[in-house]
Amino acid sequence: MQKSYWESRWIKDKTGFHASKPEVALEEFWNYEPKDGFLNVAVPLCGKTMDMIWLAEKGHSVIGIEFIKKACEDFFTESHSLTGAPEVQVFPRGIRYSSPNINVQLIQGDYLKLISGDILQNPVSLLYDRAALVALPPALRKAYIKQHLQLFPDLKEILLITFVYDTSIMQGPPFSIPDDEVRSLFKNDFRPEVLKRENIIDQSEKYQRMGLQEMTKVSWRLKRK
Ligand SMILES: C[S@@+](CC[C@H](N)C(=O)[O-])C[C@H]1O[C@@H](n2cnc3c(N)ncnc32)[C@H](O)[C@@H]1O
Repeated sequence: MQKSYWESRWIKDKTGFHASKPEVALEEFWNYEPKDGFLNVAVPLCGKTMDMIWLAEKGHSVIGIEFIKKACEDFFTESHSLTGAPEVQVFPRGIRYSSPNINVQLIQGDYLKLISGDILQNPVSLLYDRAALVALPPALRKAYIKQHLQLFPDLKEILLITFVYDTSIMQGPPFSIPDDEVRSLFKNDFRPEVLKRENIIDQSEKYQRMGLQEMTKVSWRLKRK
């Protein structure tokens, strides 16, 4: 997906992926305490997800990365009572927005083009991926995962959510990513474990109307080898 595709979706408010409540898999499977090296959490391709606030309220320090300016601005406007007005700092590959009130920093920049020096909070040991890997077409997925370790060399675990569905009916995004592909993408550096597999088609009229009878949501924990 080109940046212009996402830009247009944000400008037209076509952000059906944005959830008004915390992700259930996060509530179910996020069992990390913000101590013992599990303080800093990366949320790549974060949009304006409220999950960042959920994580910050747990005591983590959150670094979201998102390349659409409107998404970053909306995050701070819509959560203003919690975040306050962000401090804004421009750097060569993007803009850094830091909340004065909660531990959330957004980097407006292309995740695939950032360099490790752009991340001021390292060591980052946890990464949360909701609607991020599944937002990327196959050609970008390897580079995206490689970038996790380039930006966050101390990464220990990832909580990842993927979808699997009949691609003769729908193409995505969100893209269908079969389990074998997840295992193959992460095989060099991580041990993937399926935490839950659930048919969530009942929760989406849109996908039902498109003709899908099954949409499997797969929650994964990936531990660094
Ligand atoms: C499907 S949305 C999901 C947003 C968020 N994770 C959520 O759960 O609501 C994917 C987001 O990734 C952003 N994005 C796509 N490619 C990106 C890239 N290379 N760098 C930074 N952001 C990117 C898009 O602008 C979009 O906001």
